[in-house]
Amino acid sequence: MRLTVPMTAGSQAANDHVLRVENISKAYGGAVALRDVSLAIRRGSIHGLLGENGAGKSTLVGIISGQRQPTTGTLYLDGVALAHADVPSMEEAGVFLVTQEPMIIDHLSAAENLMLGIWPRRFGFVNWRKLRQDAARMLAGTGIDLDTPAGKLDAVARRKLNILRAMFSGGKVIILDEPTAALTVEDRQQLFDFMRRLKADGVTFIFISHYNDEILDICDAVSVLRDGVLAGGSEDVGSLTSAQLSELVLGRGLVLFQRERRTFAEDAPAVQLRDVVGPSVRVPALDIRPGEVVGFTGLPGAGAKELARCIFGLTPVQSGTIRFADGSAPQGLPTHPRDAFEAGIAFLSDDRRRDGAIGQMSIGANISLSSLASVARSGFLSRDAELRLSDRYFAAMGIKAASAAVAVDTLSGGNQQKVCLGRVLATGPRVLILDEPTRGIDVGVKQDVLRIVDELSRTGVAVIIVSTDTDEITRAADRVCIFENGAIARELTGAEITNDRLRGLEPA
Ligand SMILES: Nc1ncnc2c1ncn2[C@@H]1O[C@H](COP(=O)(O)OP(=O)(O)OP(=O)(O)O)[C@@H](O)[C@H]1O
Ligand SMILES: [Mg+2]
Repeated sequence: MRLTVPMTAGSQAANDHVLRVENISKAYGGAVALRDVSLAIRRGSIHGLLGENGAGKSTLVGIISGQRQPTTGTLYLDGVALAHADVPSMEEAGVFLVTQEPMIIDHLSAAENLMLGIWPRRFGFVNWRKLRQDAARMLAGTGIDLDTPAGKLDAVARRKLNILRAMFSGGKVIILDEPTAALTVEDRQQLFDFMRRLKADGVTFIFISHYNDEILDICDAVSVLRDGVLAGGSEDVGSLTSAQLSELVLGRGLVLFQRERRTFAEDAPAVQLRDVVGPSVRVPALDIRPGEVVGFTGLPGAGAKELARCIFGLTPVQSGTIRFADGSAPQGLPTHPRDAFEAGIAFLSDDRRRDGAIGQMSIGANISLSSLASVARSGFLSRDAELRLSDRYFAAMGIKAASAAVAVDTLSGGNQQKVCLGRVLATGPRVLILDEPTRGIDVGVKQDVLRIVDELSRTGVAVIIVSTDTDEITRAADRVCIFENGAIARELTGAEITNDRLRGLEPA
């Protein structure tokens, strides 16, 4: 492995580097998120920014894009120092940050949204007809219609549109903070193709991702942050293996989790589906046994997510039956967490914004939120019991914060996801439904999460993991249901479950 020491700004000809950050530090109150970070980004390269959850990646790109102000340090664009950069001035200068939350205006069409980045700057000199032709060319093959109001697009299309807007706006440095979450394999390839095309035109990218395969696929160079400090990097990503990349990020070797798969043919089911017809899914028969981990996968809209929501009772089924071991059925199940808890089912939504953690509340309060019924089983809320529960999952999930008393909205993205997951696990369910459980979670903690799920299943919990992350499913599941067109097209068990097979099975 070829490691480079942190580059000293100015050690290369300034012209080679479109962007330099020098001695950037950022403190939030007493907490230091970045300490004396210096790095230089080569013009026309794709530069990966790596690190564990809470390492400081989003903070750094927030500073580069003008969203956040550094406590100390200087930013250079094309060799010129920028004082007090804010978002409009950075966009004006050609630096765009694409965050995970699409910044899109719903009542404007897809094409108009693409042009949003352009008209403020070139008003009066714009050839709209040509722009529209360019927009049409850019949207071709994305499945996004030029004239569809953006509000009518699904989450994935909105995310794509957001990324395309930065590219369309003529950004010279485009920063993508975990852009691929929720994108399918094909969407990713499409995004990477765009990036390569723009790179050939001299556009520079900073790319944040927790997926090694993506980094190895698309990045020329990487820098690694660890606890807010630049811990190393590589100018030759092509020579690294996935294991070496993990080691670079974690500072230690990574032991990948692999479940010992089991078969459960004889046991009475924990969940039994018969002739289920939901709004966009139908399943003649499916049994899930206590202790079994079943992966649901497939393209968006193919039925995996839809069926999981039916099983939890979030979406009422139109006909058929869904039963749990105790004879209860989810139809009409109120979606209040306490009722779900009483039915022994827990559900982790993939929509962190809508169903996620309550930002102003502490980590501990969030974790025990759904478990109040169990915490208060004796009729009163035992503060001790609540604290024990939240401390346990605070530790088990490896949440990076001073204590469980810290407010959730000061946590990094991945650490917020850990809180959501901790809350669901803390309910002590008999049936656990997890929709994209490790999205946004770093490669080390991902193994811990899969291990916790494995341990829970050994206590008899039936687990459904809905995921587009084929690696996650391969490592965690006893059985995989592959959904196509609203039905289970194929089931894989035991040795049939391989990452390659799951990927290859996804239709082009
Ligand atoms: N508004 C804030 N107030 C206090 N602390 C903050 C705030 N925003 C971020 N932090 C802290 O700064 C550190 C770096 O967070 P950052 O979001 O940059 O991490 P990250 O590398 O992007 O992680 P992830 O992979 O989870 O997205 C974390 O410890 C986080 O708790
Ligand atoms: Mg982040």
